[in-house]
Amino acid sequence: MPNTQKLLIQGGRVIDPSSNFDQDADILVENGVIAAIDKPGSFANTPGIAEILNAKGAWVMPGFIDIHVHLREPGFEYKETIETGTKAAVAGGFTSIACMANTQPVNDNAAVTSFIRERARQYGACRVYPIGAVTRGLKGTELAEIGGMVEEGVRALSDDGLPVMNSYVMRKAMDYAKAFAIPIISHAEDASLVGQGVMNESALSTELGLRGNPAAAEEIMVARDIALCRLTRCPVHFAHISTALAIDHIKRAKEAGLPITAEASPHHLTLTEENIRGYDTRFKVCPPLRSHEDMLAVRKALADGTLDLIASDHAPHGVIDKFVEFDQASNGLIGLQTTIPLTLFLVKEGQLSLSRWIESLTSKPAKLLGLPLGTLKKGAPADITIIDPERKWIFTEERIVSKSRNSPYVGHSLQGEVVATVVEGKIRFKSEDSGRHSPNPRKHS
Ligand code: DOR
Repeated sequence: MPNTQKLLIQGGRVIDPSSNFDQDADILVENGVIAAIDKPGSFANTPGIAEILNAKGAWVMPGFIDIHVHLREPGFEYKETIETGTKAAVAGGFTSIACMANTQPVNDNAAVTSFIRERARQYGACRVYPIGAVTRGLKGTELAEIGGMVEEGVRALSDDGLPVMNSYVMRKAMDYAKAFAIPIISHAEDASLVGQGVMNESALSTELGLRGNPAAAEEIMVARDIALCRLTRCPVHFAHISTALAIDHIKRAKEAGLPITAEASPHHLTLTEENIRGYDTRFKVCPPLRSHEDMLAVRKALADGTLDLIASDHAPHGVIDKFVEFDQASNGLIGLQTTIPLTLFLVKEGQLSLSRWIESLTSKPAKLLGLPLGTLKKGAPADITIIDPERKWIFTEERIVSKSRNSPYVGHSLQGEVVATVVEGKIRFKSEDSGRHSPNPRKHS
């Protein structure tokens, strides 16, 4: 339903790298689109404004987009549902998310894609873009129903959680994906080399008595998928890159002009294998947390654009999946509500420019999925993320909106808080600080 009410966002610093805009300004939203942006106070006498959002001291940016989310529905609703996952997304400042195919049943056919889209339409707090599986049942042997899923709206293909080990199958998938003009998202790990590995292979894994997953497992698959990209010219996107070695390959492939993109996850940007010392399963992720040098390489590659974008890899798991021995625990942590403060930290530290940070969460992911989003240009859909970059808050269990609690950041003090999240002109989330939002007192005058 079109939203015909006018919303005024006033008093904020509007920052939109897609149009090189960075100044104090007010935004008028009408019919779900950006109607106008102008100097502070410009819309004071505009008739028909129904709501006002006070963005004083806040940054007003294009709606953030997370292309790597596990929503778990259908099949694992005890971990997350489309309703709870999208509520966590808007609480974390995201206006669009793409959800991975490792549900039960797997999203490997048009019926499952259509189910997800329908549930998202009914219960979703933000936009949801389903990602289709590369192979049937994520088994790596037969191609999924790619054409049917594309017709239902998938904008990328991935077996994320598992690599596609068979190079011939991956090549065929790339041929199809290219024909449909969508990217393949590669979960780059050589499963035979990972074996039973549960943490980064290093002196520390020996010390802790845990089986190692070597950096070479990621490097090998990145190199293979670059080779297949060269062969097919299909756009290939690498999920959650964790090693300096893989980054070197990606850098060279990009320099050679191949259609390669890649992402960094907040945990690989902020944590290392040292966090595993306490055998806390909340730190168990796939690919694993790596060395300090790897973490610094991921940071540098994000800053210089070798890694194009930030994606949370929000991976909710229940207590029964995590409250077990380290070897047995599921991989993953919830990330939708902590991505903004954890990565804003790099901006504050001077390791990432403000415009790179914003584009890596807006225009870059929009471009990858071919979405007309990630911008505040006049006429664009009014998807807007407003944050207070200074405000400190504690990520308590009570504040978790996701159905799952598996985050190592619980109890931590974080800086940078979401003030409001606007999707298609509607306020889908606003912080407790209700002083910032009011019906327009002058509405009927
Ligand atoms: O840590 C992870 N968890 N990495 C993945 O690739 C999959 C994800 C999941 O589905 O839980």
